[in-house]
Amino acid sequence: MKFNGLMGVALAALLAGVGSGAAADVVKVGVVASFSGPFAMYGKQFKDAIDAYVAEHGTKAGDHEVQFIFKDDGGPNPDQAKALTQELLVKDKVNYLAGYVFTPNALAVAPLIDQAQVPTVIFNAATSIITTKSPYFIRTSFTTPQVAAPLADWAIAQGIKTVVTSVTDYGPGIDAEKGFTKEFEAKGGKVLDAIRMPIQTTDFGPFMQRIKAAAPNALFTFIPAGPPAFAFVKSYADNGMAAAGIKFLGTGDLDDETTLQTLGDAALGIHTSFPYSAAHDSALNAKFQADLAKVDPGAVANFASVGAYDGTEALYRMIAAGGTDPDKAMKAVLGASWESPRGPITIDPKTRHVTQNIYIRVVERDASGKLINKEIETIPNVPDLGLAK
Ligand code: PHB
Repeated sequence: MKFNGLMGVALAALLAGVGSGAAADVVKVGVVASFSGPFAMYGKQFKDAIDAYVAEHGTKAGDHEVQFIFKDDGGPNPDQAKALTQELLVKDKVNYLAGYVFTPNALAVAPLIDQAQVPTVIFNAATSIITTKSPYFIRTSFTTPQVAAPLADWAIAQGIKTVVTSVTDYGPGIDAEKGFTKEFEAKGGKVLDAIRMPIQTTDFGPFMQRIKAAAPNALFTFIPAGPPAFAFVKSYADNGMAAAGIKFLGTGDLDDETTLQTLGDAALGIHTSFPYSAAHDSALNAKFQADLAKVDPGAVANFASVGAYDGTEALYRMIAAGGTDPDKAMKAVLGASWESPRGPITIDPKTRHVTQNIYIRVVERDASGKLINKEIETIPNVPDLGLAK
């Protein structure tokens, strides 16, 4: 009787995978991002950053072995993001989720993660409202109001009095427009025209003509990083906007490291606002870039890789403290602060979004002739400003 009972306990422990060797305790993280199509650079930057983090910290978080499973959503495609997330939850039985480049993709999975109670770290998607859609979302990137409002303040301080806003017509663009306009007008600025551009647009000539006709001191823009942002900056240069006296203000994904060198002189002098510049002067940023280069000599240090790198730190903290218990995991990271390659960051326990320094940058050439986003002003510890009424 006693013997049988002990056997039973041992068998149950074995079946549960407890205490039966290192391989038993694997915590799985599903990463959904764009690895193909025009936005494939995001998936690569996410993966390079995860690889760099794992190379530095090992494959274990606390006592738990961490396994990453990558899925390609191909771009802004909420149905695909939802199907892949479902597959990760049901078939792969992941304990955590991460990634999500595009707002519609992140919004589409909110009901799934909420129901499954799976902590999910957003590495990029930047519309304020996303984190309100499930208590299991945290975000290590930025929101467009978080960067647009400080830029509006800076513009006023520079004597810029009139602006035309031109944004991509979906979540992060509308948030950027609202965030910029509210602050700019509160400080006495005037928005002469507000243009919303379809997400598929690559020919920005007609929009440049409309902006020119309004003759503002500056334009303000948000466009998702990648081919559309590249085309917008080129169109600004090709249409002689600077010579017409119209300054360029934008969110920092506009002149991202992935396109900056290719843009060449077209990017010189443009002002953007962002939480990260590859030119950020800190020992940790230098180490981050050296570690990225070790995993892949072609890796790019930019907002996507830094979002994923800090997101992986958040995942490791959650897994170390919470294992497969989602509520313990969330507790471990809410309110946590650490030093990032971008500067000091905190996960706001209320909004679950990252509080961070926002930098105003200008594109210049460094001593070697390389184009950089030089940080010229720091606005410290900015929370998400998008949900404030
Ligand atoms: C988003 O869809 O939230 C998004 C995509 C690309 C960016 C920024 C935000 O560069």
